[in-house]
Amino acid sequence: MRKKVTVVGGGFVGSTTAQRIHDAGLADVVLTDILEGVPAGKALDMAESAPILGTDVHAAGISTAGGDYKETADSDIIVITAGFPRKPGMSRDDLLKANHDVIKGVVEAVVKLSPNSILIIVTNPLDAMAHAALKLSKFPKNRVIGMAGVLDSARMSSFVAAELGVSVENVHSFVLGGHGDDMVPLPRYSTVAGIPLPALLSKEKIEAIVTRTRKGGAEIVNLLKTGSAYYAPSAAVFEMVEAILKDKKKILPCAAYLEGEYGLSGLFVGVPVKLGAKGIEQIIEIKLEPEEKAALDKSSASVRELVTVLGL
Ligand code: 2OP
Repeated sequence: MRKKVTVVGGGFVGSTTAQRIHDAGLADVVLTDILEGVPAGKALDMAESAPILGTDVHAAGISTAGGDYKETADSDIIVITAGFPRKPGMSRDDLLKANHDVIKGVVEAVVKLSPNSILIIVTNPLDAMAHAALKLSKFPKNRVIGMAGVLDSARMSSFVAAELGVSVENVHSFVLGGHGDDMVPLPRYSTVAGIPLPALLSKEKIEAIVTRTRKGGAEIVNLLKTGSAYYAPSAAVFEMVEAILKDKKKILPCAAYLEGEYGLSGLFVGVPVKLGAKGIEQIIEIKLEPEEKAALDKSSASVRELVTVLGL
């Protein structure tokens, strides 16, 4: 039987995510949005591309304006992208309260219909939104995951590959912490064909890449003017969905609910996890140098502030 993935939010991130899953034939896709017509139109458009692409999965689109999520029932994975996007000059954190209300409505509705699903949270500020989703869903922590590290690491890898003039396939970057301006790119654990970054690039070059990675989301927002990134974010979600549906046991940096790992408790923070059929199957702890741990603590403190504002 085919797997089923619901993508909540038919904006650019949601619809490109749905498209990637559909086009790869990974699962049937249900795209939802509060707009009338748009999700149905996008899903129909995807379905009409299927004969060309040779994919037999189904795409459906529904409006949830009336609060009806029936079509999403029995989803294996629910990707939540719904929310207000960042505008130029706006931090991810400005979105906090508005998007918390969105998450609340969505999570309460979808988990009733898909009680065994895995939730992937994309809505910003995503570490705090994942926390909200965990509390609202009452799901075990392995089934609520935040997408962030895969995106931030991909951004870093693209910059490293461009700087060195090597294939992106050679580069593995590691970014930990919250998906905010103080995220923690780790050059020591970032490698090119197995060679740690500090052996290949000067301190200054690495620092420039770290800074650009931290501001990667804002760089795109400033260029687009009317929205935020979606190609790389949707590619990141796709990699996570694929790892889960194919039970790949793939190690990826994701926002996970920590209970003592990395000396942090009761908080979603980006860390390396093993993704498989059960969702987060393991949190992998790596040894950090004091300054790396201090940076992770700083980033986590920013996430903690948001969570405290929300009273979670
Ligand atoms: C990004 O990093 C908007 O958080 C999103 O592109």
